[in-house]
Amino acid sequence: MCGIVGAVAARPVSAILLEGLKRLEYRGYDSAGLAVFDGEQIHRLRRAGKVRFLADAEQAAPLSGSLGIAHTRWATHGKPTEDNAHPHMSGEQLAIVHNGIIENFEPLKAALEEAGYQFSSDTDTEVIAHLIDQAVKAGASLQDAFLSTVSQLEGAFALGVMHKDFPGQILASRKGSPLVVGVGMGENFIASDQMALLQVTDRFIYLEEGDFVQITLDQVSIWDKTQQLVERPVKVFEHNLSVAEKGEFRHFMMKEIYEQPEVVKATMQGRITEDRLLEQSFGNGASELFDQTRQVQIIACGTSYHAGLIAKYWIEDIAGIPCAVEVASEFRYRKHVIPDNTLFITISQSGETADTLAALRAIKEQVLASLTICNVPGSSLVRESDLSLMTNAGPEIGVASTKAFTTQLVALLMLTVALARRNGLSEEQEANIIRGLHQLPSLLLAGVRLDKDIELLAQDFAEKNHALFLGRGPLYPVAMEGALKLKEISYIHAEAYPAGELKHGPLALVDKEMPVVTVAPNNALLDKLKANLQEVKARGGELFVFAGADKIQQEDGLKVRQMPDVPEFLEPIVYTIPLQLLSYHAAVLKGTDVDQPRNLAKSVTVE
Ligand code: AGP
Repeated sequence: MCGIVGAVAARPVSAILLEGLKRLEYRGYDSAGLAVFDGEQIHRLRRAGKVRFLADAEQAAPLSGSLGIAHTRWATHGKPTEDNAHPHMSGEQLAIVHNGIIENFEPLKAALEEAGYQFSSDTDTEVIAHLIDQAVKAGASLQDAFLSTVSQLEGAFALGVMHKDFPGQILASRKGSPLVVGVGMGENFIASDQMALLQVTDRFIYLEEGDFVQITLDQVSIWDKTQQLVERPVKVFEHNLSVAEKGEFRHFMMKEIYEQPEVVKATMQGRITEDRLLEQSFGNGASELFDQTRQVQIIACGTSYHAGLIAKYWIEDIAGIPCAVEVASEFRYRKHVIPDNTLFITISQSGETADTLAALRAIKEQVLASLTICNVPGSSLVRESDLSLMTNAGPEIGVASTKAFTTQLVALLMLTVALARRNGLSEEQEANIIRGLHQLPSLLLAGVRLDKDIELLAQDFAEKNHALFLGRGPLYPVAMEGALKLKEISYIHAEAYPAGELKHGPLALVDKEMPVVTVAPNNALLDKLKANLQEVKARGGELFVFAGADKIQQEDGLKVRQMPDVPEFLEPIVYTIPLQLLSYHAAVLKGTDVDQPRNLAKSVTVE
């Protein structure tokens, strides 16, 4: 989704802005631009396509100046062309960058056209530029013009504005879209997330909903939504710069797949002993809330939704508590019957997904408490939920979620233990789960070591146009996640089915052109699954099966890859790895843009 960077400094800012845009590339975008003020004029440069095209253009005709704003755009209103790329300007004097969607831009645009403004783009953003300009021309200060404009906007936005007649400052605001302030030494910055600014500072202020901010060389002033001047804490972002580098890997996605054995340790660290869960990890008051919990409602999107579906099996099987799971975009727009004492859980890598956030806001007052399982500290979901459990996966740059998913599952399994304790889980059973979690890093490593073998398997996929994924029980959502991974990065159409549904329809699709991928658990459902595999084989379908050691034999038309022996409750986490690798290698063979697949964004901050 769109990314913003802005800088006020005593040194040239173009390189800082371009580096910031590169660091935001992972969010997904289709055009980029920057505007720099040199003390006399605002100079703007924009390009459709990659940030490197913009950087090449800037190198050919450098933009000098120590005040600037920049943007990566993910098209919503208007095609991804240079004309629609940000920054947008009103005349020569004002430049603006915007994330989000202005829902009432049409009537505002009509009124501005009536007043004589001409539009040079199809975007909703240009309306904001002209509205501010109109107010300034009517005599308002930049600050008043900005605030009166923002008060007219409906929708979600993060904005950054600079004006030639009000030099030395950037004004910014957020409502529904994320924005941070980077605090430097004699220079200050804004950005959509801290990743964009790690090369210049590690001190950040996370703006609250409705905040308005003015940054200058040596000052950051923030007003809240009631326009009271407020102090927001400056937080030091502890990071290792290598998290934003690919290192020896060709793609971030592969690096992140390989990181999984390590990052799950970070999810568990300090939260479990040798054989017990440390329940206080969920925060103050969590134990009392878990005591009262009688029902769980999980809301999420995409991969995080799949994590929720797996958690449903755990929460109902192990904790014996009813659990409902729904995608946020559906949940937010319907009436709900929420039973008493419902614990409302959101799952999100970014913590900024618009639908998930809206679902939380819609239901917050009707539930016992809200808990978010999230990877980004300080994100909106973390700030707006009663409780949070950070997944600690470290920044995930590849658009396709990998380590965020497996760490979400670890967090959800720990939550399951907390709930199950109140519903008959014995100390011995708890110890069994916790000891299993301690084995997880080495089990995931065994999965990752299948890499070379799976790379060979992927050759059979790269030429195909479709694939079916089958699973049973909690391995069905794993199959869904495998299908999502394959389609989002390789563009091969893939569907997942519970294996038992095969003969109720999808079997009609099976022929030699339709590979069928199956994750075969080592449990009571294995024999049923074997029968499903025979149904596929009998129709000439080519099967790719990931199964426990010696559970299914390789034969003609049936390629089996053996997985390590895994405790049943860990199967969904470990069996995810080969499916991630399969998608990755299929995408590399097809030559797609693995880390930034077409049309997709890492952080979906608009509906
Ligand atoms: C998965 O690979 C995608 N990146 C996408 O489905 C993602 O999981 C979804 O947009 C939800 O994002 P979130 O976890 O940041 O809320």
